[in-house]
Amino acid sequence: MSKTSTTDASAAEKTPALEVSDSRTGKSYHLPIADGAIRASDLKQIKTSDDDFGMMSYDPAFLNTASTRSAITFIDGDKGILRYRGYPIEQLAERATFLEVAYLLRKGELPTQQEYDKWVHDITYHTYVHENIRQFLGGFRYDAHPMSMLCSSVAALSSFYPQARQIENPDQRYVSVIRLLAKVPTLAAFSLRHVRGLPIVYPDNDLSYTENFLSMVFRMSEPKYHASPVFKRALEILLILHADHEQNASTNAVRAIGSTQVDPFSAIAGGLAALFGPLHGGANEQVLRMIEEIGHRKNIPAFVDEVKAGKGKLMGFGHRVYKNYDPRAKIVKQLCYDVFEVTGMDKDLEIALELEQIALKDEYFIQRKLYPNVDFYTGLIYRAMGFPTEYFTVLFAIARTAGWLAQWEELLLDKEQKIARPRQIYTGHDERAYTSQLKRK
Ligand code: CMC
Repeated sequence: MSKTSTTDASAAEKTPALEVSDSRTGKSYHLPIADGAIRASDLKQIKTSDDDFGMMSYDPAFLNTASTRSAITFIDGDKGILRYRGYPIEQLAERATFLEVAYLLRKGELPTQQEYDKWVHDITYHTYVHENIRQFLGGFRYDAHPMSMLCSSVAALSSFYPQARQIENPDQRYVSVIRLLAKVPTLAAFSLRHVRGLPIVYPDNDLSYTENFLSMVFRMSEPKYHASPVFKRALEILLILHADHEQNASTNAVRAIGSTQVDPFSAIAGGLAALFGPLHGGANEQVLRMIEEIGHRKNIPAFVDEVKAGKGKLMGFGHRVYKNYDPRAKIVKQLCYDVFEVTGMDKDLEIALELEQIALKDEYFIQRKLYPNVDFYTGLIYRAMGFPTEYFTVLFAIARTAGWLAQWEELLLDKEQKIARPRQIYTGHDERAYTSQLKRK
């Protein structure tokens, strides 16, 4: 923290700083700038008296607050750039596997062949869940939302691995990471089988991560499941695109929960709950519902007018960070064409394409820099692959587990981090005396 009150001119020359003067006291302050930011705690020195707590910054919804330093994901929202550990998302989507990306996010480097083989082996051999978890899932109603089932069952896993609470032990952290990456798809698939009233399909260790997942979801009586190569690759790409997105709402939730030093199963369950919301991972489900509601291309202009009049949102459009085309949305749009070449053109894709064109030319969306985000087209692909609408967020969750885990471990290893505990500006009553019920008005 810099020295209080008077500005030190020579220090100011050396270190970039914000010179602040307080009109209440006439004092000036020198707040060092590092990486384009001042430290919010440096504001505390700005006081009107000794018993003043000091200045805070007020930032509802964290519109302009960096909560951490992170080396995992880089986004330039104005230019539409997304990189994991420096690698452009376009290159990873084209050439990597999801498990390679999960390794990269966690370790910071792409794995060698030997490292990759061990990583894949460890994950493959942890895909089974305890039979009690299967019974636990059996307790849900037939119409339970699969995200509720996934969130609850991941939280329940915490009770099966009490040693996961040893978060300071790197070996325990490793096995927890492996377990979560391995078991989340299993729980996700079991949830869908339960809702559909179908028998559980156990993991098949001969299959790849994505093919095994598709097998657990779709296999019926065939002795061995073979997924369509186009679907397999499409799922792999979608998992890569959703694997991390720096400090989004669910990652922030995982970090906040993780900062209490709880076990990772509990922290990831919190991330799942945050992802469920329609403004976050739930948006892909809402996009499809919106397109179904529009029903026909001729209804698009009237729908857009309603959005502009404030009656609802154009789901799958807009982003807190991207003020340009979401780079993931570009890849997903192309993927749509690949998948629909196999499944045949879909009337809803035609509606989506036209809706996008109309919105992109409309002043309302141009002025607000609202472009399609990753969720605009993903639902159409998922549905073409045979997933029900309420399942789309679960697919997002499988991918984001990789990012959440990398961010959780980065948090634990960051010496600057403590329990996440924001402050508030109290707006309630001053002290007042309790009155008996008879005297209340
Ligand atoms: N349709 C119509 N108007 C919109 C939309 C939209 N999708 N998004 C933002 N706006 C308007 C908003 O009403 C506001 O207008 P005004 O200035 O007149 O009040 C302006 O654009 C700025 O929006 P904001 O709500 O201040 O922006 P935000 O950064 O708080 O919200 C968002 C970002 C993603 C929550 C929002 O754009 C949204 O609700 N989009 C639809 C839901 C969606 O697709 N979510 C998925 C996000 S990407 C995947 C993920 O991260 O989970």
